[in-house]
Amino acid sequence: MAATAPTKTTRQGSVEPFTIVDGPEAWRAEDYRGRDDWVTVLSPVHVAELDAAIQGVIRAGLDIEGNPRSVTRAAFPLPTLGPALEGVREEVVRGRGFVVIRGFPVDRYSRRETLIGYWGLGLYWGKAVSNNKAGHLVGHIKDIGHDPANPLTRLYATAAAQPYHNDAADVVTLLCLKNARSGGLSSWSSSISVHNEILRRRPDLGPVLAGPWFFDRKGEVPPGKKPFFAIPVFNYHEGYLSINYSDNYYLLSQRHAEVPRLTKAHYEAMELFNQLAASDEFRLDHMLQPGEIQVLSNHTQLHTRAEFEDWDDVDQRRHLLRLWLAPEVERPLPESYSEIYGGSVEIGNRGGILVAGTVEHISLEAE
Ligand SMILES: [Fe+2]
Repeated sequence: MAATAPTKTTRQGSVEPFTIVDGPEAWRAEDYRGRDDWVTVLSPVHVAELDAAIQGVIRAGLDIEGNPRSVTRAAFPLPTLGPALEGVREEVVRGRGFVVIRGFPVDRYSRRETLIGYWGLGLYWGKAVSNNKAGHLVGHIKDIGHDPANPLTRLYATAAAQPYHNDAADVVTLLCLKNARSGGLSSWSSSISVHNEILRRRPDLGPVLAGPWFFDRKGEVPPGKKPFFAIPVFNYHEGYLSINYSDNYYLLSQRHAEVPRLTKAHYEAMELFNQLAASDEFRLDHMLQPGEIQVLSNHTQLHTRAEFEDWDDVDQRRHLLRLWLAPEVERPLPESYSEIYGGSVEIGNRGGILVAGTVEHISLEAE
């Protein structure tokens, strides 16, 4: 191992490659475990504003299913909750990288009211982008019987465990509607802390992780594109470190003869990365409860969920809603991200999955 562990520390905005990146987003479990100051509780005033905004959209006859973008911030006024939501976005984008919000009244709302309300919160965080090739602007995370053993299956439509990864947008949020009978624990960890620890323990793996990693599109292929593309895990760009990691997509890319074979160093890097992300030292666990919203930066945080066992009654089954968001205030990203960000790295207008025939809409049910 020729490389030596770095001693220099830099921060987001002036990050130098292969240095220890310090800042609030480089947290460890001991910083937050056993505390709940990362939970923002909606006040009765906030909830009253949310109720009023939802009813305003319904009275105005706006079509949340067919034309969700007709529901704009102007159509969804939140006088005091709005600034609080912008504070959440700031914490996620430029602070520690995660927030949980408690108290969205899912029990009181119809599915349509819930979707309008969740969409409305998202308007204060960023532009919502498509979650899949169907064009779902609010995704449904539910076991709808897709086979997790099929490598082309996206795991959110199953009851299987998901490995540590990040999603294809700047920010991901999940709203819990219902929990499973057992299992489904959410966990997340700082990918920046994982980066730092890898450089300390195995500095030789730094350049491997900053090199190209081939990523399978799982059949969601934009026009004129190949079914795979290359993107580094460690992305040092204009003074920012952004991490992009999804090991099952790298492993799957090996089905294409054109893709270079993963080397021993790649496998060692994935093993160490997964081990650190899931370790007691770096991992925070939280069982999302109905009405809670998890908000995460995909550039600085990794997330996972455990396998679950669901209820027999279809209507009782675990169900989360998801928004992928492009905030107007974000970091620059290298061009390679356009492959996974809907063809653009323009701040405020990037992320999500767009293929031929994608029509943006919101579905009331998981499908
Ligand atoms: Fe995810």
